[in-house]
Amino acid sequence: MNHMIKQKTEIEKIKISGKLVARVLEMIEEYVQPNINTEELNNICHNFIKQENATPACLGYHGFPKSVCISVNDVVCHGIPNKKQILKTGDIVNIDVTVIKNNYYADASKMFFVGKISNLSKRLCKVAQESLYKSLKIINPGIPIFKIGEIIQNYVEDHNFSVVKEYCGHGIGSSFHEEPHILHYKNNNKIILKKGMVFTIEPMINAGKSEVKCMKDGWTVKTKDQSLSAQYEHTILVTDQGCDILTWQKKEKILPNLINQ
Ligand code: MF3
Ligand code: CO
Ligand code: CO
Repeated sequence: MNHMIKQKTEIEKIKISGKLVARVLEMIEEYVQPNINTEELNNICHNFIKQENATPACLGYHGFPKSVCISVNDVVCHGIPNKKQILKTGDIVNIDVTVIKNNYYADASKMFFVGKISNLSKRLCKVAQESLYKSLKIINPGIPIFKIGEIIQNYVEDHNFSVVKEYCGHGIGSSFHEEPHILHYKNNNKIILKKGMVFTIEPMINAGKSEVKCMKDGWTVKTKDQSLSAQYEHTILVTDQGCDILTWQKKEKILPNLINQ
């Protein structure tokens, strides 16, 4: 059997983890306000996950020191929560949550707005979310993986933003990062999607150029040109006729179970 296709019993467990990730992202929204620091946000997420008898997967992952990633403004990904980082009006904040429950993982992230944000920030976040949604709406058994990157890159570049090339979506299940790799830009991956595959799509979109640099802490990734960056991520299951969004949240303007064919 294809090692990327999950069994029913595994899918049930990933669904439970996915629902918990969604609840963390729904729960934290009211706390993302001016004057809170990102370590406090991390701790609220950490405690919520532990109360649900789950484990925050980022904590200790290749030495990552905190339970969730929090990436503010020009931070592209892997921001380390820190009590000295105090949110202020106008900030855009990605919180990336991965949990392990019953030995199965799920992974999602979204953007939060601190008070009133600029029109550019709004547009950037909208385009990042819409690029993810556009890709979800073409997921079907039978399509090649490269279609995902093609649709995301075309949509983002039509809006004069750029796609980060260094990080990709990934299969997920009994481990954090599995095959297949899901690139968010044009590529040549002809692997065909099949019912029962579970993976993330997580485009990182920059307002300026696509180049990034890693900070001396070994984790924090920023845009090279200091432009703003936004990311949305979901864990999805390929179904008979489309896909299920396993990390779907109540406020989303897309259905959790997409029928695409
Ligand atoms: N959640 C990230 C992803 O989407 C990975 C974070 S790894 C960490 O794949 F170590 F930085 F937490
Ligand atoms: Co991921
Ligand atoms: Co993630």
